[in-house]
Amino acid sequence: MRRPAPAKLNIDLHVGPLGDDGFHPIRSHFVTVDLADNVSIEPGGDHRINFATDAAEVADDNLCVRAAEAFDDAFGLPHDAVTITLEKRIPIGGGLGGGSSDAATTLLILAEMAGIERDRLMSIAAALGSDVPFFVSGEPSAICTGRGDIVEPTAPPTEPYAVLFMPGIHVSTPTVFRRFDEVAGEMPNMLQRAAFDLHPELADLHEVLERGFNREVRMTGSGSTLFTLCDDPELAGHIVDAAPCEAVAARICV
Ligand code: C5P
Repeated sequence: MRRPAPAKLNIDLHVGPLGDDGFHPIRSHFVTVDLADNVSIEPGGDHRINFATDAAEVADDNLCVRAAEAFDDAFGLPHDAVTITLEKRIPIGGGLGGGSSDAATTLLILAEMAGIERDRLMSIAAALGSDVPFFVSGEPSAICTGRGDIVEPTAPPTEPYAVLFMPGIHVSTPTVFRRFDEVAGEMPNMLQRAAFDLHPELADLHEVLERGFNREVRMTGSGSTLFTLCDDPELAGHIVDAAPCEAVAARICV
């Protein structure tokens, strides 16, 4: 069984002060994007959980494997052995939620194979990572609160396209949250100041993009991907062609 694992954008991201659980409460408008990895799961393999990928930078103990282990602990696998194959297209460390989406898609495929309802996956999803419940929910547009584990559907943004600017900088989410504790931040993405502080070249790119295109450019998650929303696919294509870094046009809320 093969399913796409879409990326996400945070249209906005409000972050509260560090809690006793070591996490920051958030309130964020998440949307899916048609840039996607692919996860397939088939019965069989030498071990109970087997994993293969086309991406050298994906570790053996990646979130897909951890999701399958958590599913096995909670419900048991639908077969004696399964082989998970991940085709990686979403950049890693880019704030696009690729690893979380892969984990969520792994849970959703295993649940479909085993006849388990989606709702029963939510507590496993939250334990795997803050972005995983959004992807398990299947909602294309949602306000996520708490640690990201409370997912409420919401209307999509009025503009259905986005241009994603991918500067190739790997940003560490925990490091950005630690810097946020020192420098705070402001809307629309309260992690932007911390990420720009850690990666001044990202701040420079943001300025170049906003000035060059004369449009608002936002950061998704803890970075490094920057984006601008667009109502017109042709305009999105022009922005991609003129971008000073790797860029792709995408449809949102798919
Ligand atoms: O949940 P995720 O794996 O994305 O979190 C990685 C780390 O980022 C956490 O261990 C925590 O240090 C930090 N984090 C946080 N508040 C959040 C999400 C993540 O402090 N809401």
